[in-house]
Amino acid sequence: MVIAIDGPAGSGKSTIARRLAEELGFYFLNTGSFYRAYTLSAIENGIDPLDKDKVLSNAESIEITVKDGNICIDGVDCENKLHTASVDAYASQVSSDPRIRELVNKAVRNIAKGLDIVTEGRDTTTVIFPEADYKFYFDASPEVRAKRRMQDQEGSDYQTILKAIEERDKMDKEKAVGALKIADNAIYIDTSLLTISQVCEKVIEAVREPL
Ligand code: DC
Repeated sequence: MVIAIDGPAGSGKSTIARRLAEELGFYFLNTGSFYRAYTLSAIENGIDPLDKDKVLSNAESIEITVKDGNICIDGVDCENKLHTASVDAYASQVSSDPRIRELVNKAVRNIAKGLDIVTEGRDTTTVIFPEADYKFYFDASPEVRAKRRMQDQEGSDYQTILKAIEERDKMDKEKAVGALKIADNAIYIDTSLLTISQVCEKVIEAVREPL
């Protein structure tokens, strides 16, 4: 079974998808982490993350796998390096290259084959798994999302984060390929005023209803 979750940054998709996978005993696949891993690897290898051709050839030369829900580059767990300010700043641009998107889509579909998965990230419901058994779109106001992000990034400034979120939303919605949009038959959940547990309950309720 595939449960796919889309939505903007900070809407709670990562935390909730991971929790849902645990509760349902499903495999967890965070598609944004693949773009972040390609961005991180480029930065670590001294490549300008805006140089699309170099980022692509670097991406083609590394292997991304998932172990216990964590992303590994060439077998090394790099999950705790995926949410730094520099990766945040460039992941959207890296993800705007259709060739990189193709690499990620293939890798994700390959890993998912024959598994029960909870997957999350823009375009998981529209492009990667349009035939997912369940599709959800999580949303939250930019202000709430900025506050959530602040808790993850120590010493950060609210106005700077809010501005970065608004800019990224714009970029992600206007992307020529893989833009953020609500799939026709997705269940829409505004998580602004809900706790993580409340959102999980809503999703599990929907999934447990007979198809
Ligand atoms: O969800 P996230 O913030 O970890 O995603 C990192 C970047 O990758 C973000 O700019 C959105 C982009 N992304 C994408 O274009 N398609 C996906 N399926 C997942 C993420």
